[in-house]
Amino acid sequence: MIEARNLDKKYGNDTHAVRSISFTLDKKITSIIGQNGAGKTTLLRILSTQLLPTSGTASINGYDIIKDAARIREIAVSIPQESRPIYWFSPTILIMLYLGARGMGLRESRRAADKAIKKVGLWDSRDKMAAELSGGMKRKIFVAMALASDADIIFLDEPTTGLDPLSRIQIWSAIRSMKGQVIITTHYMEEAQALSDDVLMMNKGRVLSQGSVKELLKPFEGMVRVESKMRRRRSHKVGDTWISYVKKGKAESFVMEGDIIKSITLDDLFIKEGVNLES
Ligand SMILES: Nc1ncnc2c1ncn2[C@@H]1O[C@H](COP(=O)(O)OP(=O)(O)O)[C@@H](O)[C@H]1O
Ligand SMILES: [Mg+2]
Repeated sequence: MIEARNLDKKYGNDTHAVRSISFTLDKKITSIIGQNGAGKTTLLRILSTQLLPTSGTASINGYDIIKDAARIREIAVSIPQESRPIYWFSPTILIMLYLGARGMGLRESRRAADKAIKKVGLWDSRDKMAAELSGGMKRKIFVAMALASDADIIFLDEPTTGLDPLSRIQIWSAIRSMKGQVIITTHYMEEAQALSDDVLMMNKGRVLSQGSVKELLKPFEGMVRVESKMRRRRSHKVGDTWISYVKKGKAESFVMEGDIIKSITLDDLFIKEGVNLES
């Protein structure tokens, strides 16, 4: 369980990346969503004890992120957004080195590495040099490390950004099979919807709302989203498109030629809050 109280982070005098936020995360898989610059990485780095907050407190399974940082590093693993494997090692070696550094014995780490490598779909490449692997496969090495570590808390910063659809599904399946509590960040709404029990929506360093996907989408129940090239009554402008929310039964009489009808996703929460998803 993760608890944050009035967490705040300023970089220098200008950038207020996280603005006095408070929350409790106690579900199995939580997604932190929000556009670039929302403060997701900063928050994750504070919680995983890599960065000190400017003020405020947080605890992980009862341990304070400042006082008990050493203890948290034992029970938690964190995969940063820009992780690059050492190029001349194979996935098997990299994962075993990581597990060894965390104190796991040789035989156990071999078994855990093999299992995790199979799970993420790297088995055929397990003994190749990391340099020979694609970007997606390199990313999978780190997800396999987190999986094999058997940690109580796993932080994954954008684990699937830029990956092909099959790799993403393999990573989702690996994440679902993790035994500990998982916190991921993502800007893919369908990823948050497919994976998480709890969603924390961030914008400009603040929490917009928190809940299960179902709870968050409750205000949109029975509605569809209509995208139009022209301004309509009560529509929101996103880029060059006007977006309206219409009851399903009324959609037929509302739509005009050229309009597109879409199902509601978490994107719609940001649109309704007036967050410009393009910037
Ligand atoms: N090391 C840093 N030094 C200065 N500003 C930073 C640093 N890291 C992030 N920022 C700024 O803090 C804000 C939040 O960034 P970040 O936490 O990376 O957001 P996200 O992960 O949601 O894209 C952005 O305005 C970003 O430019
Ligand atoms: Mg980030």
